[in-house]
Amino acid sequence: MSRCFRILAVVLFLAAVPFLLVQPTFAQKDAKGHEWWKRAVFYELYPRSFADSDNNGIGDLKGIASKMGYLHDLGVDAIWISPCFPSPQVDFGYDVSDYENIDPMYGTLKDFDFMAAEGKKKDVRIIFDFVVNHSSDKHPWFVESSASKSNPKRDWYIWRDGKNGGPPNNWISTFGGSAWKLDPRTNQYYYHYFYAEQPDLNWRNPEVAKAMYDATRFWYKRGVSGFRLDAVDTLFEVQDLRDNKVLEGKNAFGDPETDEKYNKKLPEVHDVMRGLRKVADEYNAVLIGETWTQDIAELKEYYGAKNDEIQLPMNFLFTEVNKVSAPELRSQVAAAESTGQWPVWVISNHDIVRSYNRYGDGQHNDAIAKLMAGLYLTLRGTPIMYYGEEIGMENNTPTRKEDVQDPIGQRGWPEEKGRDGERTPMQWSDAPNGGFSAAKPWLPVPPSYKTHNVETESKDPDSVLNFYKRVLALRHKNDALVEGGYVPLNGDDPNVIAYLRKYEGKAVLVVLNMSGAAHESTLDLAAQGLSNEKVREVVSTASHAQAGKSSLKVSMEPFGVYMAEVSK
Ligand code: NOJ
Repeated sequence: MSRCFRILAVVLFLAAVPFLLVQPTFAQKDAKGHEWWKRAVFYELYPRSFADSDNNGIGDLKGIASKMGYLHDLGVDAIWISPCFPSPQVDFGYDVSDYENIDPMYGTLKDFDFMAAEGKKKDVRIIFDFVVNHSSDKHPWFVESSASKSNPKRDWYIWRDGKNGGPPNNWISTFGGSAWKLDPRTNQYYYHYFYAEQPDLNWRNPEVAKAMYDATRFWYKRGVSGFRLDAVDTLFEVQDLRDNKVLEGKNAFGDPETDEKYNKKLPEVHDVMRGLRKVADEYNAVLIGETWTQDIAELKEYYGAKNDEIQLPMNFLFTEVNKVSAPELRSQVAAAESTGQWPVWVISNHDIVRSYNRYGDGQHNDAIAKLMAGLYLTLRGTPIMYYGEEIGMENNTPTRKEDVQDPIGQRGWPEEKGRDGERTPMQWSDAPNGGFSAAKPWLPVPPSYKTHNVETESKDPDSVLNFYKRVLALRHKNDALVEGGYVPLNGDDPNVIAYLRKYEGKAVLVVLNMSGAAHESTLDLAAQGLSNEKVREVVSTASHAQAGKSSLKVSMEPFGVYMAEVSK
């Protein structure tokens, strides 16, 4: 090495030292060797609605960056941001026109870097939302593909001739109408499972697969810790385009119901999951799946026969229990436990009516919001919160068709009112628009923002927000809530769910009164090798316990929660 070169190398190294020292990094495994995503609490946020730094009524990345402190203090370790890539916004970002950039509405790549750096400072990772099934019709790939039958990108999408003067088969778009659209330029139809502006990519073409895998690499290299994979069950269709079986009844758009046998959940989906996982593993990244399944057996398949597919396939079966019910929720938990896999708990998201309304009885909604938090944040597995759940945010379903923004709500009104209600701005304070923006937000906040907002609830020890904080703090502090096994205690109680999370001779006891009446539960912890007396209450609402030699009695008011640390 020449002298000059050596000096240059030393100068460069010295220049890099401060950067290396101040740049925080995320730990990939915990002290026990578990992957980071097993310990993490995830939080989905809708970027249009989370925080608006420039007061134009629409959220942005700088806004998200400014809330990293809030997220950290709440107990969140990773945020999944719904798509913020360039998009014509027909499906509010789920129609991507460039997979490797940020929509100007949300900011720039530099703003992304800033947000990721702010996240690192607060130990909050970024998870992006990867729209794998389709792009926007404005994506240059589709623009090329539709230009002519001989275009090199023609086969990147699914083009077919019509049949008998109509589309190639009877497949229906889940957003209404035929799943085929005729393009007069080439007189062929293209396939779209969602809106016509969301043409399905042809995953049978290896060039498509490569381009998509490379897009994930682009973001991993830029600091993203994983992806939530959108609509994975619709990636493939049978090649001979057989008709689906027509079932009885019509959907909200007036189309016949079909069994979707030939355009959903094809086995080839799993090849792509393995491909995406291989790339993710290069970066210690996590994949979360939008995995709608009929039953738990189907869900289990998404982990991969060799655990080589999605680490966190979302269990939506839980969201289909729409009222608090000890037997129903208990059996869902048992089903998830029976897979022997690492469960994922979700109670709402940007497509589902908010949990506050779905589970609420109109009278005890705050208590029920705490009760559900007490459940899904303490079960074995990874919880994925939805922004606003922690403050008991309400759904704000539009009451007039003319107010609806979500196209499916306009098309399906009044049966299908769209998803605006669950996507309204985060309620930061009791200022106008919930303190989200000085300008009129893209969607109105519900009147309950006056009481249910971060600022007001922060000051109230009994608020939903402070309850979430206490449970999340416990989860971060007590290893049993991450590592511990799930031990149900009272399988036949029709009203109360009680279980232990047991770990190394200690446990966290969770008792949840799922009914609108007071109840007392008598639990024998000694039968589980623990003491009925060494019980230390850690989080509770409307409940108290009485220890005794032979049992622990927990008395609870309607929808009460009792949690305690227990030892031998
Ligand atoms: C599922 C997403 O969650 C939903 O919001 C979107 O409309 C469809 N996939 C299409 O991308």
